[in-house]
Amino acid sequence: MKITTKINLLTTAWLVVILLIMNIVVFFSFTKSTVNMEQDILFEKAREIIQKGQQDHSVELSPELLKFYLTNHSFIRTVSENSTVINQVSNDPHLVKIKPEFSKKKKVKLRKIREKQVLVIRMPVKVNNQVVETLEIGELLTGFETRKDILLSILIFCSLVSILLSLLGGRWLSRVIMHPIKNMVTTMKEIEESGVPKKVLIQTETRDELQGMTVTFNHMIDRLRENIEKQNQFVSDASHELKTPLTVIRSYSNLLRRRGIKNEEITLDAIDTIYAEATKMQKMIETLLDLASVEKEQTLDMKQTDLVLIFEQIVKQLQQVYKRELVLHYDQTPIMIEVDELKMKQVLIILLDNAIKYSTDKIEVTVEKEQEDVIIKVKDYGIGIPKEDLAHIFERFYRVDKARSRATGGTGLGLSIAQTIVRQHKGEIFIKSEEEQGTEVVIHLPISSTN
Ligand SMILES: Nc1ncnc2c1ncn2[C@@H]1O[C@H](COP(=O)(O)OP(=O)(O)OP(=O)(O)O)[C@@H](O)[C@H]1O
Ligand SMILES: [Mg+2]
Repeated sequence: MKITTKINLLTTAWLVVILLIMNIVVFFSFTKSTVNMEQDILFEKAREIIQKGQQDHSVELSPELLKFYLTNHSFIRTVSENSTVINQVSNDPHLVKIKPEFSKKKKVKLRKIREKQVLVIRMPVKVNNQVVETLEIGELLTGFETRKDILLSILIFCSLVSILLSLLGGRWLSRVIMHPIKNMVTTMKEIEESGVPKKVLIQTETRDELQGMTVTFNHMIDRLRENIEKQNQFVSDASHELKTPLTVIRSYSNLLRRRGIKNEEITLDAIDTIYAEATKMQKMIETLLDLASVEKEQTLDMKQTDLVLIFEQIVKQLQQVYKRELVLHYDQTPIMIEVDELKMKQVLIILLDNAIKYSTDKIEVTVEKEQEDVIIKVKDYGIGIPKEDLAHIFERFYRVDKARSRATGGTGLGLSIAQTIVRQHKGEIFIKSEEEQGTEVVIHLPISSTN
C-alpha cells in the first residue's frame, strides 16, 4: 500500500473514532439534560401541590387541587401504601395505563407509551413525619423524540462531511509531504541506474524537516563526489608515482641486459638506482596497505607502555637515518599509558616524517602528563601550511600542493592514518601552523582509553 494512502486511511480512521466518541457524548448529554430539566419542573410542581395540601389541612390531596396543577398530556395521582390509586386526574387516557407505585423516596422513571417518552416522578407525602401516600406526576415529553431525531441527523450529516473533508485534506496533505520524498526516490533510482551521484532539486524553500532531509542528502552527494574525485586523483597520482620508478627500473635493467656487467661502474650505478627506486615503490605500497589495515578497525593490542621510552628509540633511529636535529622533551619519566605500542610508534613516525620532509631546522617532540591526559607535540620550523588547507589536512589523499608533495614523495595518507589511530585510542589530534613559521601537531590521549 502506498504511504500516502496509508497516512490518509489512518488519519481518517482516527477521525471516525473521535467523531463517534464526540457524537455519543453530545447525544447522551442532550438527552440527559433535557430529562433533568423536565424532572426538576415536575418535582417543583409536586412540592407545590404537597405544600398547598398541607395548608388546606386535609388528610388527602383532593382531586380539585390536583386538577388545578394539571397540564397537557399529563396525569397527577395519589397512591396508597398498597399501590392503589386514591385520587387521579388526567387528560390523556393512554398515560394512566402506567402502573401506580407507592414509594417512600423520590423517584424518576422514563416510560415509553406508544413510541413516546413519558416522564414519571414520585414524591412521598408525609404527615407527622410518616409517609402516608405517594404523589405521582406523569407527563408526555412532547417534541423530545423529534428533537432527538433532528440532533441525530445533524450529527450524522456533520460527521459524514468531516470524514469527506478529512479524506480530501489527507490526500492533499500527503501529496505535499510525499513530493520531496518522491523526488528523492527518483533521484536515487537514477543514481543506481547510472552510477553517477546526482543532487535532488529543491523547488520551493520550505525550511522544514523534509527540506532538511533533501539538503542533507545533497551534502552527502557532494561529499561522495568529492571522495570519488579524490580517489580518482589518488589512483592517477599513485599510478604516476609507481610508473616513474618502474620506468627507471626497466631502463636500467635493460641497460644491464644489453651491456652486460662488463663495465663495473655502470653496473654498480644501475644496481644502486634500481634499489633506490624499488625502495620508493615499496614504501608507497606499504603506506597503502597501512591505510587499508588501519581502516579495517582491527582491535587494538592495548598494553601499559612508557611513551618516553618508545619515543626515545624512534627519535634516535630517525636522527641517525636523516642526520637531522631531533629533540625529545618530557616532564617526567616514565610516562605510563595504556596504548597499542606499534600503532603509537606509527603515529610518531608519520608526524616526524612530515616534519622532516617539510622543514630543514630542528624538530621538537614533547610528551607531558596533564591531569587525565597525555599530551604529545611534534613541532617543526618549516614551510607551514596555508590557513585554507588546515581544515582538510586530515582528509584522505589531501595534499597542500601536489607538486610540492610529489617532489617529497607523499601520498596524502599519513595524517589520515594518524588521526584514525588516535581516534581508535579515544584521543584527539589537532594541527596548528603558520606559513613559513612552522607546524605543530598536538595529540591528547586519555590515560586509560577505557574511561
Ligand atoms: N609538518 C608539516 N609542514 C608542512 N606541511 C605539512 C606538514 N605535515 C603535513 N603537511 C601537509 O599536509 C599534507 C598531508 O600530509 P600527510 O602526511 O597526510 O601526507 P603526505 O605527507 O603528503 O604523504 P604521506 O605521509 O602519505 O607519505 C602534506 O602533503 C603536506 O602538504
Ligand atoms: Mg606525511
